[in-house]
Amino acid sequence: MTAMTIRYLTGITTTGTPHLGNYVGAIRPTVQASRRAGTENFYFLADYHALIKCDEPARIQRSTLEIAACWLAAGLDHEKVYFYRQSDIPEIPELTWLLTCVTGKGVLNRAHAYKAQVDKNTAAGVDTDTDVSAGLFMYPVLMGADILLFKAHKVPVGRDQVQHIEMARDMAQSYNHLYGEHLVLPEAQIDESVALLPGLDGRKMSKSYDNVIALFGPREQIRKQIASIVTDSKAPGEPKDVEGSALFQIYQAFASADETQKLRQAYADGIAWGDAKQMLFERIDQEIAPMRERYEHLVSHPAELEAILQAGAAKARQRATPFMAELRHAVGLRNLAVQAGPAKKDKAKSALPSFKQYREADGKFYFKLVDAQGRPLLQSAGFDSPKEAGAMVAQLKREPQSWANLTGVRAEALDTEINAALQELTSSGN
Ligand code: TRP
Repeated sequence: MTAMTIRYLTGITTTGTPHLGNYVGAIRPTVQASRRAGTENFYFLADYHALIKCDEPARIQRSTLEIAACWLAAGLDHEKVYFYRQSDIPEIPELTWLLTCVTGKGVLNRAHAYKAQVDKNTAAGVDTDTDVSAGLFMYPVLMGADILLFKAHKVPVGRDQVQHIEMARDMAQSYNHLYGEHLVLPEAQIDESVALLPGLDGRKMSKSYDNVIALFGPREQIRKQIASIVTDSKAPGEPKDVEGSALFQIYQAFASADETQKLRQAYADGIAWGDAKQMLFERIDQEIAPMRERYEHLVSHPAELEAILQAGAAKARQRATPFMAELRHAVGLRNLAVQAGPAKKDKAKSALPSFKQYREADGKFYFKLVDAQGRPLLQSAGFDSPKEAGAMVAQLKREPQSWANLTGVRAEALDTEINAALQELTSSGN
């Protein structure tokens, strides 16, 4: 028996210049992960996603160039992995439409990024849809297509993206329920060991806080940025706290355990902030300097990068094109000259509500009841074992009326809708 190949997939939105936070949080771990045996790795530049947040064409183009160059300079082997630009894969927007048609609008209403804007508008007393493009609303569906098109098993992302992976899984389930088992259900993968890098002011390093250290900025600029990291006002010779020190945390993201221990000791011994900053500068420079030449070469030879991306797209489409043909056929977008199969025999089944059981990143087991369109009706709390979750599902099927008295399930829709769905399920014998 051959071991199963695990497919990893992740994308970076192309709206900015790569900074140390991107490097430590996304670029470096994906390059390392791509070397594991028994895996296939799909890494791409999410430029369609960039259009949702950015309307400056030159910036999109420049960011795509820089992020691609950064990935390669950091050691990504583009011949070994699937490395491509989202907008070079026409099957992605094509699948986006098929998924749009199996995604409940109510599900998208709950997406964090969209909800945050609605909440902001509500608080400001303006129309709820102010500054909400349909693109922002559809963001999770485009992301679902990215993931499902390549049958990814694992999607390494930050915590803020977990909801999107959960939605992609729901889309896959809805599609499979209606059209047969074609799509693979993906899972988010959050690597606890990947550092969340603080920025110059101690908050998360992010372009939107204007607290970043550019990855391949001129050395003098990096030195200046490091010099501006916020510290307390302890004088040289006074012992310093590593707890809550952004400088220490950034150092730790680059240093070995030994080196980190040495800096910890230096803090206790009262190292001057200026000296600590010099240590940090040298440690970062040591890691980045060897990549700088390749980065600068690629950025100044964009035709080379373009050729790499074109080749990557061709390779990715060897997977995407036949799979998309299968998915089109499954929904009935078919060659008319080819005899149609029998009409779907279990139409009734496809219109039923269903229970979905799944495991979350917290390690706990959950279930939810969704209606035929995938809209959530009941949501469970987390159980320690799948057996406990299963037992409650069985109980709900046996005694549909009992849900209102159970602790551990929460209504996500009107009582009448929940009752009707449970009745329907019970009487269908499913
Ligand atoms: N939305 C992700 C982000 O902003 C980027 C992204 C787009 C992505 N498509 C994806 C990540 C598919 C993982 C899988 O970080």
